[in-house]
Amino acid sequence: MEIKKVVVIGSGTMGSGIAAHLCNANIPVTLLDLTTEISEKARDRIFKSKPPLLLDKSQINNIQVGNIEDNFNVVKEADWVVEAVVERIDIKHNIYEKIFKDRKEGAIVSSNTSSIPIQVLSEKLAAEEKKDFCITHFFNPVRYMGLLEIVKNENNDLAKINALKKFCEIELGKGAIICNDTPGFLGNRIGVFAMQVAMTEAFKMKLSIEEADAIFGRPMGIPKTGVFGLYDLIGLMFLKVLLKNYPKMTLFKKLLKKFL
Ligand code: NAI
Repeated sequence: MEIKKVVVIGSGTMGSGIAAHLCNANIPVTLLDLTTEISEKARDRIFKSKPPLLLDKSQINNIQVGNIEDNFNVVKEADWVVEAVVERIDIKHNIYEKIFKDRKEGAIVSSNTSSIPIQVLSEKLAAEEKKDFCITHFFNPVRYMGLLEIVKNENNDLAKINALKKFCEIELGKGAIICNDTPGFLGNRIGVFAMQVAMTEAFKMKLSIEEADAIFGRPMGIPKTGVFGLYDLIGLMFLKVLLKNYPKMTLFKKLLKKFL
């Protein structure tokens, strides 16, 4: 499997980060959103980003932009289509219907979802389509975060998943891991749990937010955002979506009642 052209759908935080990083690897990429104005603004944000998402700003024009109505035909030529639209199952399902109608035979289609199971995302796909559909969960900011989770299930063509992993490791420089379709996959399953433990301990010890973040940060080998700072950055909505998809996570529910 060769990946020579990529289309990224959704030009928000993640879509623009993924497009920028593909551009860093000299892979021609088209960024689509609801309107071309939105994706143009995303390209401007990439250009101005700090820390920079691009290795070489002069390459910015290697990111083509467009909208999902007038420019969707670019999907026909893509070897990999990455969906990075809002975390809404109905919207994602509609996009997949469109992509699978137009995609090149055998092209990989992946979602950047943080928490929706692959089984739910792919429930409307035909068996042949499920083989080529997976989750590629990049982390923010895409250029700087080494981890990439590739989530698969029993319907996937494993040779293709392994080829995608190799591409992401060699061309994109990611530390790619293959995960099963479990709640929170791997990173969030461990990371969110660790953060919840840190929060619970902070409450028990009656620490202030600043004190907790000062400890659960650089001194513990964790980014300086700490635990409360990271929740501010990623947004509590993420946890709401996680809970909706995995209603059995009762510990999270109890803790979240404090915040939501
Ligand atoms: P965002 O809200 O920044 O961007 C979403 C983009 O999707 C917007 O530009 C919006 O106009 C576009 N969009 C909405 N409906 C569309 C449609 N029908 N067709 C085309 N574009 C459409 O969202 P963000 O944060 O970039 O998240 C995207 C995905 O990545 C979500 O699934 C999210 O859970 C996941 N994710 C987010 C992370 C983060 O730190 N923000 C980290 C890892 C995953």
